[in-house]
Amino acid sequence: MTTAANTAFRPQAAAHADFDVYKVRADFPILARTIHGKPLVYLDNAATTQKPQAVIDTMVRYYTAENSNIHRGVHTLSEQATQSYEQARATVRQFLNAGDPREIIFVRGTTEGINLVAQTWGRANIGREDEIVISAMEHHSNIVPWQILCEQQGANLQVAPVNDAGELMLDEFEKLLGPKTKLVAMAHVSNALGTVNPVRKIVEAAHRVNARVLLDGAQAVPHMSVDVRAIDCDFYAFSGHKVYAPTGIGILYGKAELLEAMPPYQGGGDMISSVTFEKTLYNRLPHKFEAGTPHVSGTIGLGAALDYVNSTGIERIARHEKQVLAYGTRRLLEIPGLRLIGTAREKEGILSFVLEGIHPHDVGTILDQEGIAIRTGHHCAQPLMERFGVPATARASLALYNTMEEMDALANGLLKVREVFA
Ligand code: ALA
Repeated sequence: MTTAANTAFRPQAAAHADFDVYKVRADFPILARTIHGKPLVYLDNAATTQKPQAVIDTMVRYYTAENSNIHRGVHTLSEQATQSYEQARATVRQFLNAGDPREIIFVRGTTEGINLVAQTWGRANIGREDEIVISAMEHHSNIVPWQILCEQQGANLQVAPVNDAGELMLDEFEKLLGPKTKLVAMAHVSNALGTVNPVRKIVEAAHRVNARVLLDGAQAVPHMSVDVRAIDCDFYAFSGHKVYAPTGIGILYGKAELLEAMPPYQGGGDMISSVTFEKTLYNRLPHKFEAGTPHVSGTIGLGAALDYVNSTGIERIARHEKQVLAYGTRRLLEIPGLRLIGTAREKEGILSFVLEGIHPHDVGTILDQEGIAIRTGHHCAQPLMERFGVPATARASLALYNTMEEMDALANGLLKVREVFA
């Protein structure tokens, strides 16, 4: 009953001459491997994406021929590494359309970017009875740093609700804004639901009450073109590993005037201009926020990953992923007893669901036997799970290399799961 009839209506994966998903797949060596004797169907991209050969080659080349510390040596290797490191910053600046490379701070990932803002800008600008507004769909990384800050400063956290589709209730959000609001911190795209938040409207509303806005862009940058100047957010953070780069490297964008005024995050090497026991003068931006030897190879890998995305074309990627998402949604809704969690009108490639009477963990374990990798659990968004009355979901999340056939494999795998529990 599955598929002959259904797949007959499957749209062609390579419907667009300018995006050949099978050619793209050949760029990612891991996609050729098998799991339990079955072809790998990798649908855990919101957790981390796979890496194209171009990124792997760049990393190998760096360690084979360029490895050195940056900003310290006058020797050739150090100069080359410094140049590559700063080139990666220039690539990120362009990728986000930031105005100035000084506004691009290398951090470990989105989590560190958010913690940096909380503990520097936050401690300097948020006081007793001030308010920070987040939403009910935030990842723990965009909840806990603000809770810590609120405890330290005697401030309050306000939470804007989401509707049953998993969309931010904009009216309710605006009602929370007022003279006490100092910061709005929101996901650009929800990691657990795929909801795309109306970030322009959020920023406009927050700026009307003179609040600053931080956006968690971890799940947005792999899927859509992001222009921080058009959005006019004050801070924007994302993780390299979710956009085909290595783990351990991420970006905090901040408006230069804010970063200039903020105290440093960590003390150490590279972030100083001069040190005496009496007084230390801090380095200029962006180095003021990059204490210690950075993840040099990671930044260079991130540059290569963004070059890869740019050369593939983010608009083409977005269009392809939207088609796979639409087809996958249709296939999943055919599964008896399946409830999709997150049905926002504006949505990126995330299919979060529960199967009636079957624990998501069992769904994930059985799918793994079929070679299909998904994530199960609360997706670091426990309050959101509570909002939808589920302890956990199963989540399939897409990247540019996923195909319509993989959506069929997922649907067929889920029918097998149902058979096991019948
Ligand atoms: N934040 C990552 C996820 O959603 C780890 O899976």
